[in-house]
Amino acid sequence: MTSSPDHIHPIFERTLGRASKEDLLKQKGCVIWLYGLSGAGKSTLALAMEKALHQKGILTQLLDGDNIRSGLNRNLGFSEADRSENIRRIAEVARLFAQCGIVTLASFITPTRALRQLAKEIVGKEDFHEVFVTCSFQTCEKRDVKGLYAKARAGQVKQFTGKDASFEPPLESEPADLTLDTDTLDEAACLNQLSAFIEDRIISSVSSNNSTHL
Ligand code: ADX
Repeated sequence: MTSSPDHIHPIFERTLGRASKEDLLKQKGCVIWLYGLSGAGKSTLALAMEKALHQKGILTQLLDGDNIRSGLNRNLGFSEADRSENIRRIAEVARLFAQCGIVTLASFITPTRALRQLAKEIVGKEDFHEVFVTCSFQTCEKRDVKGLYAKARAGQVKQFTGKDASFEPPLESEPADLTLDTDTLDEAACLNQLSAFIEDRIISSVSSNNSTHL
């Protein structure tokens, strides 16, 4: 049941501010949103990136599709409405982490432009950095790390993204902030690009404020 707005009294303006937390951590919060087909390599890159950032002394939080769907969003499936609710909740959570000064890596299929837009609006465009992890359906199907492509082919998984549920790549006129093509680049090359992207866009903005230990 939705709560009545008349009975809700938010205290946003009284909570300890973001700046105090970023000062404490000596870093700036943000959301790196990786999206693409299942099997494209989002989780692999997010996991490796999180480790690399951690080694550099940066506090991170990784939010990943299957993890979130086994906890917070375990009541959601893969209909259009459920995917939308999935992304809405995750974006709200990602926003909370970013506002706490944490570098937040979000790894979700996020199959439509409308869903990516929704996530961006919730997180806030200043904090939202969109990374398209692209790979052909054929290659993902060949990799089939989780065996889901075979199950989808056998009709055992419905509404499978790229098969009977659509995946919309970004428009040419509105590309992602970074595109990583895992069909043609190996993991190390993708990680280098992702790492440079994060350092350029996010970490250097903190260094220039002289408030970081990096
Ligand atoms: S999203 O479309 O709502 O963004 P999300 O990233 O949370 O998807 O979850 C995707 C993961 O759920 C996949 O990596 C896969 O392991 C699993 N999965 C189970 N069923 C499906 C399905 N029908 N389509 C896509 N992924 C599925």
